[in-house]
Amino acid sequence: MKIDGRPYRTIWLADDGWSVEIIDQTRLPHDFAIARLTTVEEAAHAIRAMLVRGAPLIGATAAYGMALAAREAPDDQSLSRASDRLLETRPTAVNLRWALERMRRCLAELAPSDRAAAAYAEAAALCDEDVAFNEAIGTHGAGLIRQASEKAGGRAGDRVVNVLTHCNAGWLATVDWGTALSPIYKAFEEGIRLHVWVDETRPRNQGASLTAWELNHHGVPHTVIVDNVGGHLMQHGMVDLCITGTDRTTASGDVCNKIGTYLKALAAHDNGVPFYVALPSPTIDWTIDDGVRQIPIEQREGSEVSALTGRTADGRIETVTVTPEGSPVANYAFDVTPARLVTGLITERGVCPASREGLRSLFPDP
Ligand code: MRU
Repeated sequence: MKIDGRPYRTIWLADDGWSVEIIDQTRLPHDFAIARLTTVEEAAHAIRAMLVRGAPLIGATAAYGMALAAREAPDDQSLSRASDRLLETRPTAVNLRWALERMRRCLAELAPSDRAAAAYAEAAALCDEDVAFNEAIGTHGAGLIRQASEKAGGRAGDRVVNVLTHCNAGWLATVDWGTALSPIYKAFEEGIRLHVWVDETRPRNQGASLTAWELNHHGVPHTVIVDNVGGHLMQHGMVDLCITGTDRTTASGDVCNKIGTYLKALAAHDNGVPFYVALPSPTIDWTIDDGVRQIPIEQREGSEVSALTGRTADGRIETVTVTPEGSPVANYAFDVTPARLVTGLITERGVCPASREGLRSLFPDP
């Protein structure tokens, strides 16, 4: 995607040919800053502290983290330690485990002296694959937005389609294109008139800070709303469809995503609004069936709930406390939406029902 006319991905190799550059997402939307990763420890920190975030980008960063590790010390023990270190950074997005397993499979049979070059090549391939998957998700998902436009009675493009999304599942959450936002970008490019309701997504405000920033740069009409508005909008016919991303989808089609997704799915179900979830196949965890009981839900620092960071009128970035001193806070970062509430899964291979059969129809040999 382009920022001020210049194309960017969210992660790339620096000009020195070995260090890794990322967009520091903790600084957005007020400051576009690039951070440089030179060690596996810096890659682990970038994931844990959410300089990079979003399931596919977490996986891509872990892959480059293994390349940095292979450059630092390519022996079996050191690589195993590096992989464990990266794996412990964030528990919910399965793309992290998937990427690390892929990197370790690629490196296992090689002589240590060959590992660094192979790791960089594999990380680059994984990133290119992510971009291709997400673009394909966009093509399939745009069809659903086109249908919503046609359903309103006119030809495609005649009426504004209102799409609600939660968190940031845009290009910033992936290497490029995004998952939930990819269909929106494709439909927008096609000329379909649309408008996006952007849930602010407390506590870290990925919607207000990142999704809004992306849509703004792309010229896509949108409105930021607080997290509890969606149900009201749906009751009043102001949402045609919801599209969110996911951090882990079970083999049976349950989807785990940013906290609050489940409540949106309940509201959508109650109001007959289609609720789609967009995902590249590395986000599917084929080893589990029951999302509510089997997916580990990350709990993060309470300060993300008790404090808010923003820009003051004179341009300073400040953090303020919003809870009374002494009040305990809880910070569950994700929840699980059962498959029965999901209208369909938008994958790189097409749209399928959120069920074991649906996923198997597209991925017979995962
Ligand atoms: O905590 P985050 O910002 O990493 O959570 C991100 C999400 O929940 C996204 O919706 C999900 O990773 C899908 S991203 C394409």
